[in-house]
Amino acid sequence: MSIRVDGTTFSLETKNTLYQMKADAYGVLKHLWYGAKTSQDMEYLLDYPDVSFSGNIYDVEDNRTYSLDTMPLEYSTEGIGDFRISSVGIRYENGASALDLRYENHEILPGKYSIPGLPAVYAEDYEAQTLAITLKDTASDIRVILKYGVLPDFDVITRSAVITNNGHGNVMILRAHSLCLDIPYGKWEWVHFHGRWGKERTPERLPLLHGIQESSSKRGTSSHHHNPSVLLCQEGCTETSGTCLGAVLMYSGCFQAQVEYDQLNQTRLVMGMNPHMFRWELEPGKSFYTPEVILSLSTSGMETLSHQFHRIIREHVCRGKYKLIERPILINNWEATYFDFNEEKLLDIARGAAELGVDMLVMDDGWFGKRDSDNSGLGDWYVNKNKLPDGLEGLVKKVNDLGMEFGIWFEPEMISEDSDLYRTHPEWTIRIPGRQPTRSRFQLVLDMSRQDVRDYLFDVMSQILGSANITYVKWDFNRSVSDWYSELLPASRQKEMPHRFVLGLYDLMERLTSAFPDILFEGCCGGGGRFDAGILYYCPQIWCSDDTDAFERTQIQYGTSFFYPISSMGSHVSAVPNHQTGRITSIKARAVTAMSGSFGYELDLNKLTQEEKNEVKFQIGLFKEYGPLIHNGKYYRLSNPFRDNYAVWQYVSQDQKKVLIQGLIFRTEPNMLRYPIHLRGLDPDKKYRLREDGVIYSGNALMNGGILMPKCFGDYVPVELYLEAIDA
Ligand code: DGJ
Repeated sequence: MSIRVDGTTFSLETKNTLYQMKADAYGVLKHLWYGAKTSQDMEYLLDYPDVSFSGNIYDVEDNRTYSLDTMPLEYSTEGIGDFRISSVGIRYENGASALDLRYENHEILPGKYSIPGLPAVYAEDYEAQTLAITLKDTASDIRVILKYGVLPDFDVITRSAVITNNGHGNVMILRAHSLCLDIPYGKWEWVHFHGRWGKERTPERLPLLHGIQESSSKRGTSSHHHNPSVLLCQEGCTETSGTCLGAVLMYSGCFQAQVEYDQLNQTRLVMGMNPHMFRWELEPGKSFYTPEVILSLSTSGMETLSHQFHRIIREHVCRGKYKLIERPILINNWEATYFDFNEEKLLDIARGAAELGVDMLVMDDGWFGKRDSDNSGLGDWYVNKNKLPDGLEGLVKKVNDLGMEFGIWFEPEMISEDSDLYRTHPEWTIRIPGRQPTRSRFQLVLDMSRQDVRDYLFDVMSQILGSANITYVKWDFNRSVSDWYSELLPASRQKEMPHRFVLGLYDLMERLTSAFPDILFEGCCGGGGRFDAGILYYCPQIWCSDDTDAFERTQIQYGTSFFYPISSMGSHVSAVPNHQTGRITSIKARAVTAMSGSFGYELDLNKLTQEEKNEVKFQIGLFKEYGPLIHNGKYYRLSNPFRDNYAVWQYVSQDQKKVLIQGLIFRTEPNMLRYPIHLRGLDPDKKYRLREDGVIYSGNALMNGGILMPKCFGDYVPVELYLEAIDA
């Protein structure tokens, strides 16, 4: 049993962790513990100081030590004396906003709960249990059900809340976070993942400052700028030692993660939809569901935490036929042609790629409507016959005849003013009446909260996808959303738009992925602007970044790897000089970096030298061999590419018999010693043979002494070493 209830103390046990809380004599749900597994009631750790200016709930009479402002709580509220970050806020018809939640009842259910309209971790009944604790406001008929999914074997606990209005009047939900986690003790550091277009998910680790620190998005997407994931590490925590916990929000829209370090040096983490971009009018009898947060904790450093997240996301977030199988190696024409292509050019690229062993051609932006630049055509999802005279059917057949599969690009949620769709349905666009809308990439955004918009997109996309043998879709999104307004919503509901937009996106994704189960959907948002666990529920891979430079990618993929599995990162070899940075790296350096993901090419391979073509053919062969190890093995960050002169990482098969080390050494110095890199996760007693020269090493030596990296000459020197255990 992973959920134990003793009176009103709730213990959620996973293989290595314990999460504990208790509804006390007043019904207040206090947080007791999230950490290493113990069989103890951890309430003994709570202290009740008499803190001036931290008031007391009425029921405790003159007990000045019982204050919601100082206690660790399971779900903080506002208006009743907890002055730290609140998780939920409600405004009543009389304008007051306060919520005093007390325990009412609980239930334990087999399996993992799901959330209507939203992605959530899924599991078989034997893999998970659900605890639902109902809290009720003391003065109104608002109830909050806190849901906990416990997946013991994964060391994962999920959180989500349901807010129900059992009263007679409408209430306004002002904020509704998915997670509140109070940590009364310890010195914690906050790691968040920030960035911008082309430079996503840069980890930043900072000691907590007293007060509130935040990472968030108001852009309508989870964003390039902050990822909806947070890592809290105890001071001194490393890849391999120390306690850390991670929280990943399964949501693709405006979010907020805040960490508060309070007057008593306690830490509170809250995470959920961004309250600045949210209101929800809740009618009597109605419920509101928050998105889910995936929580996990490690007492042996960040590497274990990453393994836990990789496993849960790969196996219990990603769905469908492609979630665990090897994905096709693809060639995408975007950086090879941009908008300037026609059937002949595409077939030329495809022929060159087929000869070298590539599995699929992906036709990117520009195949539809009037789309010769990014100024027009979005919304007109019908084939441009000037570019593709034989239509999609003809082109796809010719590609298939080369022995390749075919994939296609869409940007469903967007509309160009110069499009037939806009001329017919200007009202489908998000814009505020009486104001000129903000353009970005000269495009506007469709109102995804509207059923008619979603139906149009479903029909037109289904028509295209059913018209030829298409087995892959790249689903792009190339701007931040502003000018929020929907013609169909009353004034009191306009602030629901950012969330309704995401619900609309998920609805369309659910319909299309169910209607086309044999299609591999790849998420994209100008690269990795929507790299989140919400999208991964529908698309098992996401284009990691528009920056395809090998050096830059080592950093972007390093940051992404803290939470997201390697198989989820779309990663391509592109041309040099690199289109984003102008940097020149060898074809091998580019391949080694791109292999750390769902692998592909994005250039015209016909333009390579014969020597480079041979290397491409060789690398494709290698990836066919290494792919299963890269995607199913355990991933180890052996360096920090933001600090070290090299980026080196390692994959170890689950049975510890196969080991692949890849990376780049950034700069050569004269007379330098070769770097010894300490491997991890091997069997110390096994012997491993290095494929390159047949030398045999013990696992023990490789982990303690390390293995020497190749001799360097030049910059961005690729590293690729493969070891296999031998029977001694
Ligand atoms: C942004 C994507 O990230 C690129 O790969 C490409 O598909 C362009 N959009 C096309 O407009």
